[in-house]
Amino acid sequence: MKMITITIDGFSSCGKSTMAKSLARELGYIYIDSGAMYRAVTLFCLEQGLVVNGEINRSKLRKSLKDIKITFERNPQNNQVETYLNGVCVEQKIRSMAVSNLVSPVATIDFVREELVRQQQAMGTKKGIVMDGRDIGTTVFPDAELKIYVTASAEIRAQRRYSELTSKGQDADYEAILKNVQERDYIDMHREVSPLRQAEDALHLDNSELSIEQQNDWLLEQFNRVVELTS
Ligand code: CDP
Repeated sequence: MKMITITIDGFSSCGKSTMAKSLARELGYIYIDSGAMYRAVTLFCLEQGLVVNGEINRSKLRKSLKDIKITFERNPQNNQVETYLNGVCVEQKIRSMAVSNLVSPVATIDFVREELVRQQQAMGTKKGIVMDGRDIGTTVFPDAELKIYVTASAEIRAQRRYSELTSKGQDADYEAILKNVQERDYIDMHREVSPLRQAEDALHLDNSELSIEQQNDWLLEQFNRVVELTS
């Protein structure tokens, strides 16, 4: 079967990873969560003392970049792909509020983006990949055959993130999450390098009112249409 590249971009917490994961599973494609890579770099900064008074020490981070190895491995117990930082599973840690609060500033740093984009492009050379993030359809894979741009209201997204955290037994504060979602939206859309925007050839999906099943059906329909068109 013909392999294509699928990009899913959009605001934080609008279900991109749920969509991307289930589509990749359905198609037997590789799934890459590019946000997890920015989160892993952020965790590295926090753990290595590269953050002082909320400011990232850029020159130290630049020097340390070569010491940051990010990989993804499937956990055979739950069949989920998990993020590893220098050989240690950090899947839980990178979802913490401490990381969420710092990740968007880290993601504005040009040399961090250059390095992660290079790694992301290397992962997609054989196609058969679904990658989600902010700049995947615009910068990482501008020639992708299927590009999706997802939106949903900030309140709905904060509610989803709140439910996700509480269902895992973690503490969560709805107002703090909403504030974080809104702040990250702002930073992501206004940064200089690769700001979040809809690629001209991306399909727009507002999933505020869609169930996961409806969303998956819509995605599969788009996939089948594109594959038919391009074969
Ligand atoms: O899970 P959520 O949608 O909230 O965010 P994420 O996908 O884990 O990404 C975390 C942060 O990394 C985003 O808010 C962006 O600031 C940044 N990011 C980015 O700049 N470019 C990407 N391709 C992916 C994430």
